[in-house]
Amino acid sequence: MIALTALLGCQQEAPAPAPEAEQVSWMMEHTDDWLEDRAWRRERLEEALWDPELPYARKRLSSYGLEVGGWDLLPEIDDRVEAVSQENLARPFEGEALRGEALPETAEAWRALGERAFWMMPMRRDGYAEWLVSRPDLWDAVGLEQDAEGNVRGLVRFRDARGVARVGITYALCHSSGGQAGAANRALDLGLARALYMEEHLDREPGVYAGWGAGRVDVTDDGVDDPLAIQDLWGVRWLSHLNNSGGVRHANPASLAVRFETQFIMGHGLEARPDRALVWALTLYILTIDRPTSEPALNSPGAEVFTERCAACHDPARGYSGGLVEAELLTSDPTAAFSPLRGTGAYKIPSLLGVGGGGPYLHDGSLADLDALLDSGHPFGDPVEGADKDHLKTFLKTL
Ligand code: HEC
Repeated sequence: MIALTALLGCQQEAPAPAPEAEQVSWMMEHTDDWLEDRAWRRERLEEALWDPELPYARKRLSSYGLEVGGWDLLPEIDDRVEAVSQENLARPFEGEALRGEALPETAEAWRALGERAFWMMPMRRDGYAEWLVSRPDLWDAVGLEQDAEGNVRGLVRFRDARGVARVGITYALCHSSGGQAGAANRALDLGLARALYMEEHLDREPGVYAGWGAGRVDVTDDGVDDPLAIQDLWGVRWLSHLNNSGGVRHANPASLAVRFETQFIMGHGLEARPDRALVWALTLYILTIDRPTSEPALNSPGAEVFTERCAACHDPARGYSGGLVEAELLTSDPTAAFSPLRGTGAYKIPSLLGVGGGGPYLHDGSLADLDALLDSGHPFGDPVEGADKDHLKTFLKTL
């Protein structure tokens, strides 16, 4: 225990973000700033960057919210979209606008718009997805889900900046499962999809993709192969940092909104930017998305073990999340923490809300289940054993 307390000194402190209701009212107060004040948005980017000298940060600083030029001048992504199904694919693209002319007037209406954006707004156009839609025989193998109407969850058709009908992926592709928004799609095997595309479509070697495995994706272009586990979105509102290595400070909801906006711009090849009202709505939705109802068993023996062994990092008052811990102290793969584009040398302490929903755990998905996690001596130190282990597991499943 002494060693643990000493090492905790390495944890970097961050102010606790406000809980849900405060974040929602903050968003409602600042909607006009977000939509109309370029300088305000620029400040929100600057305050969120962990290190303005990192290449990923510099790229955004050189283009986002500038007085002259930059990404603000890009045309808006056409917001007409259509589901992907075998039936729709057989006819020309029609599309329906994601939002009407008028802005939502209440927080509930913003959230409802955000929910539509979550399922249907194309965050990137995607060549692999475009190929996959022509191969329904592979949909099961790569973990694409279809809803009752035969629509593929997480894929949409839309028109790109040149007016060409394309296939895009939405947040729901990775972050919904069985129709439950926010649950990681751990069956999704985008590595397999890419490997098959290389082999069957391009007649080339699959390279690193074949090794990713289901539920893991490498979303960065930093030249390092470090596929990360797809995560649940429960408890994002509590996080003090975004990204596994914490390169984005979560100072307020606009940190997330700026990140989404830039994600869309990059995902659309720097040719167009998303409608800011849709990004704002999506942010509100993701900050308020919740795990299926659960009631933490606070008066159980497992809660005591948790307080003793885990709560110093996974703070119950912050959705069981915390600040950053230096990667060298942890058992997980340090590669992503030292990514040349966005590394901080550390990993964020994730929220444990809904953690009983299933592994694999840690940013790299290196621990298959809670037994493996507790046996490993996570985060460093002695494994949790015997009756304590059973109690702790029972408690974790109630979070
Ligand atoms: C020193 C701080 C610290 C302590 C103490 C700590 N953790 Fe963690 N925990 C972390 C960090 C950092 C991560 C993320 C590591 C990574 O992604 O590589 C993490 C990740 C996890 C995850 C994975 C969550 C997910 O969604 O993948 C679980 C589960 C977890 N911790 C449970 C526990 C339990 C149970 C205890 C007590 C036995 C505990 N932790 C103690 C820092 C800590």
